[in-house]
Formats: sequence, C-alpha cells, structure tokens
Amino acid sequence: MPLLIKNGEIITADSRYKADIYAEGETITRIGQNLEAPPGTEVIDATGKYVFPGFIDPHVHIYLPFMATFAKDTHETGSKAALMGGTTTYIEMCCPSRNDDALEGYQLWKSKAEGNSYCDYTFHMAVSKFDEKTEGQLREIVADGISSFKIFLSYKNFFGVDDGEMYQTLRLAKELGVIVTAHCENAELVGRLQQKLLSEGKTGPEWHEPSRPEAVEAEGTARFATFLETTGATGYVVHLSCKPALDAAMAAKARGVPIYIESVIPHFLLDKTYAERGGVEAMKYIMSPPLRDKRNQKVLWDALAQGFIDTVGTDHCPFDTEQKLLGKEAFTAIPNGIPAIEDRVNLLYTYGVSRGRLDIHRFVDAASTKAAKLFGLFPRKGTIAVGSDADLVVYDPQYRGTISVKTQHVNNDYNGFEGFEIDGRPSVVTVRGKVAVRDGQFVGEKGWGKLLRREPMYF
Ligand code: URP
Ligand code: ZN
Ligand code: ZN
Ligand code: ZN
Repeated sequence: MPLLIKNGEIITADSRYKADIYAEGETITRIGQNLEAPPGTEVIDATGKYVFPGFIDPHVHIYLPFMATFAKDTHETGSKAALMGGTTTYIEMCCPSRNDDALEGYQLWKSKAEGNSYCDYTFHMAVSKFDEKTEGQLREIVADGISSFKIFLSYKNFFGVDDGEMYQTLRLAKELGVIVTAHCENAELVGRLQQKLLSEGKTGPEWHEPSRPEAVEAEGTARFATFLETTGATGYVVHLSCKPALDAAMAAKARGVPIYIESVIPHFLLDKTYAERGGVEAMKYIMSPPLRDKRNQKVLWDALAQGFIDTVGTDHCPFDTEQKLLGKEAFTAIPNGIPAIEDRVNLLYTYGVSRGRLDIHRFVDAASTKAAKLFGLFPRKGTIAVGSDADLVVYDPQYRGTISVKTQHVNNDYNGFEGFEIDGRPSVVTVRGKVAVRDGQFVGEKGWGKLLRREPMYF
C-alpha cells in the first residue's frame, strides 16, 4: 500500500522543512507540498510532529554466547523493541569466539536473524583469531555484503585478538576497503588487575570498574590508533566511555589517522555509582568498558555536540537478574552488558535535544546518518530523500512518559533506565514503506526485516 505522510516537519542531519512524503513500494518517490494521494494510499497526519529518517543502531548484540550464558533477545524481540524506539536498522556484532570457525559462525548468526526480524539489519564480522583459514574466510564474508569487521582487544582467550592478529586484520581490511570497529581495552592489564583484586578479597560488582580503569581503555584506544596509522586502515572505536580514551582518539584524529568514535547511551546518562549499590542491583550495571566517574558525562556530551564523537549506539546486550547472579561470588563472572535498543533514541532526544545539550541535526546525524555513511548504507538509509528507503519516524515531541520494565519490549526482567523521564517518542515508524508502529502501537510484520548488503568503502 502506498504511504503518504502529510504536514510533518522533516528533519535530517542537514535540513529542516515542512513537506509531505510519498512512498510507493519500499522507497520514497516524492517529497513536496500538498501531495495528492491516489486511492488506496495510507495517509498519516504528522501535524505538530517531526519526521526523522529511520534511526540506525550501529552496535547491538542479539544472539550472543558470552560468559557462560546467552544474551536474552532474539531477532523477534530485539527488532520489535528497536522499532518501538524508532530504530529501523541495527548492526549486530557477529561474534564467533576464538574456538569457533569464523565462516560457520557467520552462517549461524545469519540463520538466527533470517525470517525473524521486523526491521532491517546487517553485521559487523568479528575477527577473533587470525590463522591460516581466516583471510580466505573473510574475503568470502566481505563478498557476501559485509563491509565492516570487529576486533576485541579485551576478553583474552575468547573474542580477543593479540597485536599480531590485529595487525593482520587491519592489513586485510585496508586491502578490502573494510572499516574495522574495535573494543579498546588492554587485555593483559584487565586480567592482572582482576586477579589482584580477587586475591585481596575484592569480589563485589563495585570492583569491576577498578579492574578496567580509564587508563586501560586509553591504552587500548591509543594502540588501536597507532595500528591504524601504521597500516593505513580505517577504524571505529566502539563504546568509548571516558576522557583519557577520547583524548587518545582525538590526538590520533589530529594527526590524520582515519579513526571514528562511537559512544553508547548508558555512558552519557549513568555513572559508576550505579554499580556500587550492592548485590544484583549493582550487577545490572556491569558492562565493559564500565560505567565511569560522573565527570566523564559532560566530556562525552560536549564531544558529541561538537561532532568529535561520531555516533551514539547502545551495545545492547540483555542479561536478566538470574544470569547476572552468575557473578555473585566474583565480579569477573557477571555477564557484561545492558539493554538499551528500545530507549536509545528517546533518551538521546530527551537528554540531548529537549534538555538543550544537542542540536537536533547533530542528533539525527549521530543516531542515524553518520552510521549509514560509515557503514556503507547511505543514502539508502540515514536520510529522507527521493530514492531512499522509506524508513521514517514520525516523532511526537509533545509526548511525556517514563521508562519502565513494565512497558518494554526487550526480553529482560529489568531496564537500566527505570524511571527516566522521556520528552518524546515515535508515534509512527515505517520500514521500507511498511508501517511497523502506528499511534505508538506495534503492528510490524515478522520477517519483513532484511539483511542489508553493503559494499566496501575504500575510505
Ligand atoms: O559489556 C559489554 N559491552 N558487553 C557486550 C560485549 C561487548 O564488549 O561489546
Ligand atoms: Zn565491547
Ligand atoms: Zn558490544
Ligand atoms: Zn542545527
């Protein structure tokens, strides 16, 4: 059914104007004043509302075997939650471990998503080791439409790569025109500090942050940047959490290293005191890099406002209370991660745009457009233009509400942002011309979401 969105205020990363949008099939075919709707068109009145391009979450975990358990969402629950919050595309980390075959892992991750997602998706392909099979397998995966890799400098002996493997991955990425995303923490230091703290009887969740201090993240970030500089590859630091790591990345940017920065929504709004509340309440807030001292929040907001931080993702990774309690004897066994896929856009809009910290165009850029550009999805995704996919978010800035586990769609028994106020929400969300959320109610079609093919970028 054709779709006409009337009377909204269109806001993209670089423009703002009132116009109607007409979509036929899966794409936007006309934008203009007083567009006529042929019979059979679904007409949506967006008077008093913004119309944003569909938001893109560049960093989520849906299927994830990790820390002796599995993250709780499926593509069905995760994509439904994403859409309710205005996210129409997500990039999942395809994360086979060092003990797995990469190509088998890739097929497994694809099979988990296929036919189950309500929204569009693609993968960053994790490189968890670099042996004689890796290069050929990665070439095959890139040829299949995956044009970004992921490396972990932490999680030694599971996802983590050593410096030699990082070098080989970056060298191949440079040749193939693939951007490499990286979790930057020094694995050796994390391991040593964990052992030291445990041996001193410091086993509670409040010791997680001291086991991976800011300097450890700064070292990982600086080392990743040096390897980019040396290989000429293009990189993207995921979930950057603190000023020393930002300084390291900015120093690299200043000397011309092609390095981009993602921060994730928890670090803008939560601080390490959440992980110091004792027991399972604290365990809910264990993630890596850890929640930091509050002074970092202003640094992140300012860097985001100025465009030094390129994107805001989630690192969505739900583990429930029972799973968190796997770490009741030792913080090193608490599954790392927090869900946020449903709330990222509303939180960034509320505490950024609505509360005066963030320009509305920078908001669209950081939550959608920039990720589309960096990861080979633009201009199909990330903007509102004739020829782009009709992924649209009609956003109601008059809505007032509160985040709660009681109303969430994420498959988890808590929400880390419980009680946070929201100054807006999506009232209508479309994916390739199909309405998935109408009047704030979910009406999506399972399996409508497609795996997006992405070409190498040769930055
Ligand atoms: O704590 C986190 N971030 N869990 C998910 C895995 C990762 O590091 O991205
Ligand atoms: Zn990570
Ligand atoms: Zn992650
Ligand atoms: Zn502006």
